[in-house]
Amino acid sequence: MHPLQCVLQAQRCLRWGPLTSVSWLLLRTCRAHSGVRSSAGPSPERRQEDGVWKDFSSRLATGPTFQHFLRSASVPQEKPSTPDVEDPPPYLTVDDLLGRQRKVYLETYGCQMNVNDTEIAWSILQKSGYLRTSNLQEADVVLLVTCSIREKAEQTIWNRLHQLKSLKSKRLRSRVPLRIGILGCMAERLKEEILNREKTVDILAGPDAYRDLPRLLAVAESGQQAANVLLSMDETYADVLPVQMSPSATSAFVSIMRGCDNMCSYCIVPFTRGRERSRPVASILEEVRKLSEQVLQLIHERDNICKQIHLPAQSGSSRVLEAMRRGYSREAYVELIHHIRESIPGVSLSSDFIAGFCGETEEDHLQTVSLLQEVQYNMGFLFAYSMRQKTRAYHRLKDDIPEEVKLRRLEELITVFREEATKANKTFVGCTQLVLVEGLSKRSATDLYGRNDGNLKVIFPDVAMEDVTNPELRVQAQPGDYVLVKITSASSQTLKGHVLCRTTLKDSAAYC
Ligand code: 5AD
Repeated sequence: MHPLQCVLQAQRCLRWGPLTSVSWLLLRTCRAHSGVRSSAGPSPERRQEDGVWKDFSSRLATGPTFQHFLRSASVPQEKPSTPDVEDPPPYLTVDDLLGRQRKVYLETYGCQMNVNDTEIAWSILQKSGYLRTSNLQEADVVLLVTCSIREKAEQTIWNRLHQLKSLKSKRLRSRVPLRIGILGCMAERLKEEILNREKTVDILAGPDAYRDLPRLLAVAESGQQAANVLLSMDETYADVLPVQMSPSATSAFVSIMRGCDNMCSYCIVPFTRGRERSRPVASILEEVRKLSEQVLQLIHERDNICKQIHLPAQSGSSRVLEAMRRGYSREAYVELIHHIRESIPGVSLSSDFIAGFCGETEEDHLQTVSLLQEVQYNMGFLFAYSMRQKTRAYHRLKDDIPEEVKLRRLEELITVFREEATKANKTFVGCTQLVLVEGLSKRSATDLYGRNDGNLKVIFPDVAMEDVTNPELRVQAQPGDYVLVKITSASSQTLKGHVLCRTTLKDSAAYC
């Protein structure tokens, strides 16, 4: 089994159903432009800008990293006030299954599945009242999530067990005894051989036995070794929501299946992880939805993340969306838009639309017009449909909308889009906007341009201004600076205004 077969990297699939990614986190201090729609950097003829850009690049290189900006983000973590434990076996009480605030230190080896398993194991222990620590010295329980894929992987674990043995023996008598557990593939492969060889190990839990961890730890509490290495035909931990181990993590793994039936002739995985089984689709979607919620919350609460989401609708007609195989209806799309607007007040929205897709009727087209009016996007990318070879539409559908009709419909969409965007952008007139400066305006050498929190282009005269951190100083804005701009006019594409002062992200509270 290739790890990629069973793990979807959530970073790439933060979607509501088939709608497009909302994981477009634009870091306002180090916005990297790429792709076809935007360009950055000096044009060859703008030699005088070179120095400025070099300065900007070196400031970027020595500036804070992506991690820095997410470090203190309050992504919601489940913290149950009352532990939630399963029914105890006859020889234990409910109390025995409780973690009693014991601190667990988890260490992960091997593949991405193990990263996910670590989060599952931690989710189960957290619910039983255990605490987590990232400091080995203060741990009461050390759990190694192990790998057996190659011999060297196992050797690493044996070496680590030697170190832990000495930690255990040096532990002060005044503290509860240190418990050590081997989880995952190596527990499954070697089973009691580990318990016999390393008396220091208290518990063993195979990849399908993590639900049993509270019981195994309770048994270990009495000084006995405890093991569960049973493999299951159906365990997928579908109902266990993994807890992300690192609050500063910028990606999360969503596990969609476990085990492997391929039996490649060199591979141990089918023997350590058991039969192949998939999680129910509903539970995968629920987990991805929760992750997407976290992204929205992060965008809402962090000033350094641009509040703009690109959600390509393609059409406002559910009939056309079905022909396009987009997997959502107009109603679902609109519902998502409302949800995003509730989660991120003032969010700026952009979209892509195709005019004249195969079979599009005048009525379908009017539905798209009405969607543009209903959503009132701040930015839009509109195209006339052009048949592409190899596509499903090429093989199965008829490109039956005459070119002039496509172009007429496109023009109509553009007109409506512009009217709505102008209305939306005019609400900024009279407001002061925090703008991240990008460079000289393409149209006028005496103007600068930058972007506001909604990624809208803001144009303002390049004049000397006050610096809020040093009011005596008169400065000229440079790329990478934050400035406050009072907006005086707005079109469908840009805002214009005059600059008030240079400021910092921290100094500027939310404006307007
Ligand atoms: N014809 C017209 N527009 C297309 N797009 C993609 N394929 C086509 C096509 N064959 C548009 C969609 C997409 C954007 C990147 O390009 O709107 O979101």
